[in-house]
Amino acid sequence: MSYLRGMVGKLGSLTLLVLVTACTAPTVPVKEADALTKGRSIAEAAFQALSGQLRKAMTDGGPSHAVDHCSRAAGALMDSLGSVHHVQIRRTTDRIRAAYDRPDAEETRVFQEMLDTWRGTDPEQVVEHQVVIRPDSVAYYRPIFIQSPTCLKCHGTPENGLDSTALVRIRERYPNDAATGYALGDLRGMWSIRWAR
Ligand code: HEC
Repeated sequence: MSYLRGMVGKLGSLTLLVLVTACTAPTVPVKEADALTKGRSIAEAAFQALSGQLRKAMTDGGPSHAVDHCSRAAGALMDSLGSVHHVQIRRTTDRIRAAYDRPDAEETRVFQEMLDTWRGTDPEQVVEHQVVIRPDSVAYYRPIFIQSPTCLKCHGTPENGLDSTALVRIRERYPNDAATGYALGDLRGMWSIRWAR
């Protein structure tokens, strides 16, 4: 009998849950595939814009000048691209350079999952981009890898290409920097792109 009562209790709360979910169900359904496509195209546009600026700054004045340039321009560039697309664009990571790139709770969890997959022993498993769909907003997360030797000039080690003049500037501008010591192919961080639905 008590088992039966337990069942009824469980069914009751299940019904309640269904009702609550139905009442708060969003009016505009978001398809995961659409959100992935939208997030990816914005992340790619942001990456193109940032790398273009980086390349130009490196050519104009070398790595230490590029550090100055990045520290002034990266945030502003993402804010302006974000307002064009009506989204918020950020980069974040577990080993941050710029204080405003510090992850929130959800970003910490998602990036940890990416790191676990990346460090995992199964070579078949690749780090995928992903979306989180909430009642009122959508979040898109995409891994960022150290994909070129240029990245190492400011994120590597003295042995693999970290530029000594860049490092001086980095230490001046980011006294708590944790974003050196990477190697080619490392998972450096992720794009975090969010929009209201
Ligand atoms: C000229 C130096 C320089 C180079 C080269 C460089 N970065 Fe950075 N990186 C920076 C600086 C400076 C910041 C902090 C920017 C800011 O203040 O917004 C940064 C921030 C980041 C962040 C945001 C997370 C954080 O720690 O704040 C990521 C991700 C990142 N870089 C990845 C890369 C990748 C990938 C490459 C290669 C394509 C690269 N960087 C090349 C200097 C550099």
